[in-house]
Amino acid sequence: MNPVQILTVESLLDELRAHPVNTNQFFVEFRDQFLTTDQLRRFIKQYHFFCFRFVKILEGLLYHTPLEALDMRIELTKTLYSELGSGITDQAHVRYLERFAQSLGIQESDLMQTRPIPEVDQYLKVLDRLFLQSDFLRALGAELAVETTAISEFRFFLPGLQKYSQFTEQDLLFFSMHLQEEAHHSDWLTDAVRKTATSLEDLEHVAIGARETADAWHQFWLGMYEKVFTPANQES
Ligand SMILES: [Fe+2]
Repeated sequence: MNPVQILTVESLLDELRAHPVNTNQFFVEFRDQFLTTDQLRRFIKQYHFFCFRFVKILEGLLYHTPLEALDMRIELTKTLYSELGSGITDQAHVRYLERFAQSLGIQESDLMQTRPIPEVDQYLKVLDRLFLQSDFLRALGAELAVETTAISEFRFFLPGLQKYSQFTEQDLLFFSMHLQEEAHHSDWLTDAVRKTATSLEDLEHVAIGARETADAWHQFWLGMYEKVFTPANQES
């Protein structure tokens, strides 16, 4: 008989790190296969659609965080400051992603025309609801899941993109810097959870938000797999 696992911050982090989204089919194929330029364009348009909007939802979470949750407000501010280039417009993370898109011949005006696939749209809606309309402990759990699972994609995307001789180190900066950055974001959010969710009941609320987010993030990548690797989806 298995002993009943008591929910702790550590057990929740272990659960998030072991979630199937971290090794999903899209990540593996992206690392191992050579994609056509058209496939890379389809990927980057959807991914940019998400990344560009995500930071704005995170700004909303900061506003929604209760006045007295000072530690959480501080940790979120650090994450946002980093996402927004630590005060330098050209170093905002989304700008690095746009520079990569340019290396594939996609301009900012093209990116603004992207229509999201349903799974990308749905993931943004889940985050919008958890960050802005649920209790802040669920919101904190959602952001913990975002930051804890985010590092996995870069472990696959960076070696995946380094296979192509067409990309310079400069082109791939978005991906290389995130391998370092996301570990910090996850540590900051873990600190926020430890300081803010001080009872088992609090932590259960955090876990609900975290699990829903990790599941929706998994759906996001299953949808991306269909968009990029299924021949029927030729339209970019
Ligand atoms: Fe980032």
